[in-house]
Amino acid sequence: MSITITPLTGSVGALIEGADLNQPITPEEFAVLHQALVTKGVLVWRGQHLKPDAHIAFAKLWGTPAQNNPLDPSVPGYPGLIQVTKIPKATASTEAWHSDSIYTKVPPKISILSAVVVPHGGDTMWCNQYLSYDRLSPAMQAMLEGLRARFTGLRLARMRGIDEVPEAVHPIVRTHPETKRKALYVGHPDTAQQIEGMTVAESRPLLNFLYEHSTAPDNIYRHMWQVGDVVIWDNRCTMHYAVHDYGEADRCLNRITLLGEVPV
Ligand SMILES: [Fe+2]
Repeated sequence: MSITITPLTGSVGALIEGADLNQPITPEEFAVLHQALVTKGVLVWRGQHLKPDAHIAFAKLWGTPAQNNPLDPSVPGYPGLIQVTKIPKATASTEAWHSDSIYTKVPPKISILSAVVVPHGGDTMWCNQYLSYDRLSPAMQAMLEGLRARFTGLRLARMRGIDEVPEAVHPIVRTHPETKRKALYVGHPDTAQQIEGMTVAESRPLLNFLYEHSTAPDNIYRHMWQVGDVVIWDNRCTMHYAVHDYGEADRCLNRITLLGEVPV
């Protein structure tokens, strides 16, 4: 099998052709896909219609599947395979730029989605956080060196009515453990709230700037889902945004998330 990798934009994402994910992936093929993921941030396959067993087998090539919240719906017979179904727009905490679970001490490293039911709309966008860092001036890069921010799950807690707000402290610039490249690690203003050693008034303008800088149109890939698509992304060098423009229509994507490492 010969794998073709085609960039989806000039900044983030690649389309993969020539790899059938319902069949076993060889170590040679995996090495090619792995290199593509950690450099492009997002990989897209069309027309896979990934079976649950194949989804789980593919995920295990990349790492250890994370324990799911038992309250999340899962594919019948596959408790490790979460069904991401429609949620009311008013409580859609994912309709903001974020890196998954950044408010936990050990955020997940990779997620894999398989599209089962797709409405008109419901696109997902990703941005490239290596480029967000690279595009900063040397003076700004030097200023951010060693700064850490307090990240909270306030947005999620507020929208879901959860009393206990999780939080964690992470570097604003993290080094990807595999590529060794630096990536900007920020998020929605509800999430990235304050920089250690600074007041909120000092932190806010800088965090707002970094958030807006990261999500400029020339740093984004917008995926228009089709049934059968598979998308894998690296949470350590991207952020994503789930567009909720599909009203009450059904939407179902199967998801597996892989355990990550403490950001450094
Ligand atoms: Fe997410």
